[in-house]
Amino acid sequence: MDLKNKVILISGASSGMGREIVRILSNEECKLALFSRREKKLEEISKELKENNIESVYKKCDVKNRLEIKNAIDLTYETYGKIDVAILAAGILIPNPLQNFDSNIIKDSIEVNFLGNVYFIEYLLNKMKSQKSGTIAVTSTLPDKRGVPGWGAYGASKAALSWFLESLRAEAKQEYNINIITIKPGSVETPMIGEYHRKGAISAYKAADIIIKGIKKEKKIIQFPFFQVLMIRTMDKFPNFVYDNLDIDLQKGDGYPKIKE
Ligand SMILES: NC(=O)c1ccc[n+]([C@@H]2O[C@H](COP(=O)([O-])OP(=O)(O)OC[C@H]3O[C@@H](n4cnc5c(N)ncnc54)[C@H](OP(=O)(O)O)[C@@H]3O)[C@@H](O)[C@H]2O)c1
Repeated sequence: MDLKNKVILISGASSGMGREIVRILSNEECKLALFSRREKKLEEISKELKENNIESVYKKCDVKNRLEIKNAIDLTYETYGKIDVAILAAGILIPNPLQNFDSNIIKDSIEVNFLGNVYFIEYLLNKMKSQKSGTIAVTSTLPDKRGVPGWGAYGASKAALSWFLESLRAEAKQEYNINIITIKPGSVETPMIGEYHRKGAISAYKAADIIIKGIKKEKKIIQFPFFQVLMIRTMDKFPNFVYDNLDIDLQKGDGYPKIKE
């Protein structure tokens, strides 16, 4: 897919991978629509884009709020008359230690990481179905098949998302010519994992580059980095008696909060 003159909507554009995706797209002569909660950040990015002659619109959009999502899509559509590609990168990562189990963390994670994307997809499909074209690329996570100690809230929200996206893919393509892409990053150096040391993490710029190249190739799943893909997909095949005996602290990772009961 050639991205020149394409209208591209990005959620989570203020930081991390979303921010780097914007940076890379600024070399592609496309028209951008940027969304996240921190409008000031979006304003700064939009100013930078304007200095480089890249057209963009932006607006505060909390993905927990369906009306703000509808407004984001309407703003994009009214400004440009179409939406070719949506890259949905908004997300939160909150550890949920067993010691002080709190279902609010799970609710929050599901609302942002799962439902936030579902709402976006709902309004995007309305537009793209009538266009009979479009690409929706949504950020899940690489370990989306097996539970990881301490990360159940995040993992459950992303596993639900991966499942949901896969359930849409064939029908969206066959009936409406809409590409659904699942992005599955391993560890990427962004503010999200700032407190957690992750071996083998790649830079946010590198991750964004892989994502954009994958979208251009119209891949169905964009997963990276290679060695983590290999490791996670091998672990997916471990029998339970092996998986349940893996080191728990190692799986939680460095920087995981130590909670005393
Ligand atoms: N970093 C990793 O290792 C890694 C690995 C696998 C998957 N991922 C996924 O990749 C995506 C991007 O994450 P990142 O690593 O780039 O993290 P990040 O730097 O923390 O960026 C997260 C983005 O999500 C936005 N966001 C958070 N809550 C939101 C809400 N309620 N409404 C709207 N926007 C919201 C943030 O913007 P505002 O604060 O301005 O709203 C920010 O732009 C996420 O979906 C994450 O789960 C990351």
